[in-house]
Amino acid sequence: MNKKTILVTGGAGFIGSHVVRRLVTRYPDYTIVNLDKLTYAGNLENISDIENKPNYKFVKGDIVDADFIQELFSREKLTDVIHLAAESHVDRSISNPLEFIRTNILGTVNLLNAAKFSWNCRLGTESSDTESPRRNLFYHISTDEVYGSLGPSGLFTENSPYDPHSPYSASKASSDHLVRAYADTFGLPAVISNCSNNYGPFQFPEKLIPLALNNIRQNKPIPIYGKGENIRDWLFVEDHTLAIDLIFHKGKRSETYNIGGHNEWKNIDLILLLCGIMDRHLKRTAGTSEKLITYVTDRSGHDLRYAIDSSKIDRELGWKPSVKFEEGLEKTVRWYLDNESWLSNITTGNYKMYYEKQYANR
Ligand code: NAD
Ligand code: TYD
Repeated sequence: MNKKTILVTGGAGFIGSHVVRRLVTRYPDYTIVNLDKLTYAGNLENISDIENKPNYKFVKGDIVDADFIQELFSREKLTDVIHLAAESHVDRSISNPLEFIRTNILGTVNLLNAAKFSWNCRLGTESSDTESPRRNLFYHISTDEVYGSLGPSGLFTENSPYDPHSPYSASKASSDHLVRAYADTFGLPAVISNCSNNYGPFQFPEKLIPLALNNIRQNKPIPIYGKGENIRDWLFVEDHTLAIDLIFHKGKRSETYNIGGHNEWKNIDLILLLCGIMDRHLKRTAGTSEKLITYVTDRSGHDLRYAIDSSKIDRELGWKPSVKFEEGLEKTVRWYLDNESWLSNITTGNYKMYYEKQYANR
């Protein structure tokens, strides 16, 4: 196996922590450098189990700081990037769009510039030379939200036109375009994947499933935007992580892969299913949790439906979602209930102390 030094950005977040864990444990010959700013969404407890592995290193830093990023590339002699760091929550992008522009767009450009410089990319060479073994790769992790909203039928393919509606999706769309522009213009070896909604352990309790789960646990209202009729295509995070591993190793340069769960749920139906599972786990009478459902004002610009056609990654790389939704949701509920201290450390803010406690004197 080739020795590689891979920069994973956003590895203290939800999906990034699963990616870091998988790479560190499966590929002992790789060195994984996890770069994370530790915003409110970054939580080093997510990866405390692997923090002492010899092939793992954590660096606290901001991708918006161009000089720091360039210096990190030179110091660590990075061979590859898997870029997950982002502001990721649509509601926050509505209240504070600028932070999304800074991190998701400027931060991505800083990484692209550092990779282009360090890997000595020259106009057009590597991206047109897609057959030779690649030494470097810039892998950009993106979202299906860049494609906008579907009506009642149809699926997003890799050729669907971009039509983002929220500041979050517009910033991710912009970063996708920039990655393609650097591949086409400077020959940067790059690949992009666009994934549907993830769920599973370590998801910050602001997103629908962990928020609802946490509220049910505490007998608090479950806010449902509008009529709860919006549809999302849910994928268990470990299935996404496996797809990322495959694309990183086998994906073709300059290609895009859509990743989805073939698993569409109306928000209200999903919440009713979750309420049933929670009633059972908490030994509450059936029907207790759903009384917490509270319809609230709809999200502005709320996309009606997302659904992914993932036949390309299935056909070319042999990936399919493997975890059935009921099974994944059951595992997720079990994990959150078994790890109440993870949740309460977020509620109290204690999770922010982890870096000082574990890393400050290293
Ligand atoms: P997350 O919000 O849980 O984690 C983001 C991480 O990035 C955090 O650890 C945060 O501290 C870090 N970060 C933020 N700004 C930074 C900066 N300026 N410099 C360095 N680090 C910074 O997000 P997530 O849900 O794990 O999503 C990860 C990636 O996957 C994002 O790019 C997102 O757009 C994409 N994605 C997410 C989903 C989903 O359902 N969650 C679906 C498809 C794609
Ligand atoms: P979310 O988890 O924020 O993901 P995204 O907006 O990126 O798809 O939301 C998933 C769906 O749930 C979306 O249609 C908005 C809705 N939603 C609620 O109804 N109530 C909530 O409290 C949240 C956070 C989301």
